[in-house]
Amino acid sequence: MIVCVCHRVSDHTIARCARSGMAFDDIQLELGVATQCGQCESGARALWSECTSHQAVAHIQLHPAKLPAQAASA
Ligand code: FES
Repeated sequence: MIVCVCHRVSDHTIARCARSGMAFDDIQLELGVATQCGQCESGARALWSECTSHQAVAHIQLHPAKLPAQAASA
């Protein structure tokens, strides 16, 4: 689905960028999201936030050796 109509940027593209660690400002600079009419900004930011928060959870689950001893043994 296209999120930013002005620059034809899809939800998949924003999600991929977010999961690769790009800040929202970087996505704006690279793709132009939310830099023209601004109608897409709240949706694009919400999508970016959702994808970056999921990335943090996945990172913790993939690296149990970095958890405190109590959490790792649970
Ligand atoms: S829809 Fe994204 S800037 Fe206009």
